[in-house]
Amino acid sequence: MSGTLDHGALKEIPGDGGAPVVGDTFKFLSGYFYENRDRYDRYGPVSWMRAFGQRTVTVAGPDAAGEVLQNRDRAFANGPGWGFYIGPFFRGGLMLLDFDEHHLHRRIMQEAFTADRLAGYLEPMNATLAEGMARWRPGEAFGVYRAIKQLTLDVATRTFMGGDLGAEADRVNTAFIDCVRAGTAIVRFPVPGLRWSRGLTGRRLLERYLGRQVPGKRAADGADLFSALCHARGEDGARFGDEDVVNHMIFLLMAAHDTTTITMTTMWYYLATHPQWQQRCRDESRALGTDVLGFADQDRLVALDLVMRESMRLITPVPVVARRTVKDTELLGYFLPKDMPVSVNLHFGHHMAEYWPEPERFDPERFAEHRREDKVHRNAWMPFGNGVHKCIGLHFGTMQVKAAMHQALLNFEWRVPDGYRMPVDWTSLPRPKDGLPVALTAR
Ligand code: HEM
Repeated sequence: MSGTLDHGALKEIPGDGGAPVVGDTFKFLSGYFYENRDRYDRYGPVSWMRAFGQRTVTVAGPDAAGEVLQNRDRAFANGPGWGFYIGPFFRGGLMLLDFDEHHLHRRIMQEAFTADRLAGYLEPMNATLAEGMARWRPGEAFGVYRAIKQLTLDVATRTFMGGDLGAEADRVNTAFIDCVRAGTAIVRFPVPGLRWSRGLTGRRLLERYLGRQVPGKRAADGADLFSALCHARGEDGARFGDEDVVNHMIFLLMAAHDTTTITMTTMWYYLATHPQWQQRCRDESRALGTDVLGFADQDRLVALDLVMRESMRLITPVPVVARRTVKDTELLGYFLPKDMPVSVNLHFGHHMAEYWPEPERFDPERFAEHRREDKVHRNAWMPFGNGVHKCIGLHFGTMQVKAAMHQALLNFEWRVPDGYRMPVDWTSLPRPKDGLPVALTAR
């Protein structure tokens, strides 16, 4: 397409700059755009706004979003797109690499996510989940979000690192949280004590902490993800250098942690508000006849799988993904100049009545074989993204969610008061503002 681009024949992108000075930064942070039907009706699938001091093109709906993610013209790049938000804290992570370099790293990293490797991660994962849940204290206001966040952190420590974090555990955990939160800082340069600065400090601590351990991981043959990255080789024998391993570990820990936490929290919420589905999933887990999920059992949790898909549709764990144009290009007949930030809205597409009947209704059966509403468009449902950057941890994340939910369903029941609606904070990734308090009872 490049070279043949006829700017004059293309449409100008419609949009507006929002409020004076700040533009739409605060609306962006509040999640307003993720569900903003008015904007879509006014401007269509491609429009511009102003956030974080720059003009940004927002792309919504499966046609436009799909085109950007498929990226046939190689005009949309991840590094400069995501880099604006999280670059200083997650540089070198797979999601921030582009084109040939990305392809090379992805091929090597794939070795850490083969079926054999995944099966190897499941055993320590199950043990960590069981130990973590054994510490839960049932009660009338059990905070689901916090408990699950701790659980996924413990799982990451064991399956990613191969052990506990030792004396530095608290500092390492804080460093992660600071890195993740720094991405949506309003003040985007280091002021001591503010988010950006704390993120940079966190990054340095993680680099030192992980870097020290690389030689030991290379020397041994552990079953954890850290070891897998140290030993992974691409088809031509290429492998990661020490710095690559550290960069990928920092990114993977982040990529896995918040996404699985919010997915499970959302599932807990919908299973609490739809007790018949909670019971259906529990009956299915009991029918498996095993306390912990085996690798081959995953496909047998059919109802749980439907609930997971529907939960990710309703509250999309990564609501938008970022890109930046690296050359002039065209999108659905609109002209996009080089060097333009682009926000691809995944969440919005999951709520479009054009594709989903009663889009706000929790209806997991819509994904069942006899309905498969997600097949209405190849990009209708894409919580894991699409194209060459599609989530490499899809099967890892799904396995972790199912293993955790299986144990939770067998050991606990939970409910919320009639009429309860979970308030969502959309700053950074979505999470419940109230921590999702449920009445938890042990079975
Ligand atoms: C339910 C859980 C998860 C969700 C919803 C999710 C979502 C996503 C999305 C939307 C992308 C695409 C980003 C883009 O196009 O810019 C992505 C990429 C990625 N995810 Fe996940 N993710 C999940 C779990 C995980 C886990 C468990 C891991 C690792 C163990 C992981 C590692 C990655 C990596 C490395 C990438 C970058 C892939 C690339 O650029 O080639 N994710 N994820």
